[in-house]
Amino acid sequence: MIRPIFLTLVVAVYTASALQCRIVATGNLSIPDTSPVQECAIGSLSCLKVVDYTRGTYTKQCQTMNCTMNGLANSVANCQNTSAFGVSGATCCCYGDGCNSAPKTGIATVIGSSLVLAALMKVIA
Ligand SMILES: *[C@@H]1O[C@H](CO)[C@@H](O)[C@H](O)[C@H]1NC(C)=O
Ligand SMILES: *[C@@H]1O[C@H](CO)[C@@H](O)[C@H](O)[C@H]1NC(C)=O
Ligand SMILES: *[C@@H]1O[C@H](CO)[C@@H](O)[C@H](O)[C@H]1NC(C)=O
Repeated sequence: MIRPIFLTLVVAVYTASALQCRIVATGNLSIPDTSPVQECAIGSLSCLKVVDYTRGTYTKQCQTMNCTMNGLANSVANCQNTSAFGVSGATCCCYGDGCNSAPKTGIATVIGSSLVLAALMKVIA
């Protein structure tokens, strides 16, 4: 129980220097992503993952913007399905080092974002 907390602290400290995201030019959805987290350019604010379900590929990158949702800037981390020109995909945006990966490091961020989102929805509703 102590280890996850420690990890979270370490991640939080790293965030203060420079954001790190997984960076993959083109990945295959049927092969697990083993790419390392890499340092983003100065000014990067969020990590992005774009999935193309039609081709079975994805890309991961840093983004020099906050996340957007339904055209709104500066939103919480989110995943949105997209469907255009016969291509179905998803765009996921998140904050925090290595958050654009499924396992481990992202969990604290995902839970945190869900809480923020839940709180936000209460405010809106
Ligand atoms: C992804 O990997 C699978 C299994 O190795 C392969 O059959 C498929 O063609 C690959 N897809 C792409 C888009 O490279
Ligand atoms: C990103 O969000 C943070 C926190 O809400 C805000 O302070 C900052 O100005 C935003 N940056 C951009 C480029 O929108
Ligand atoms: C997005 O698409 C995926 C794959 O088709 C599906 O599993 C998921 O439920 C969809 N999510 C939303 C919010 O529509």
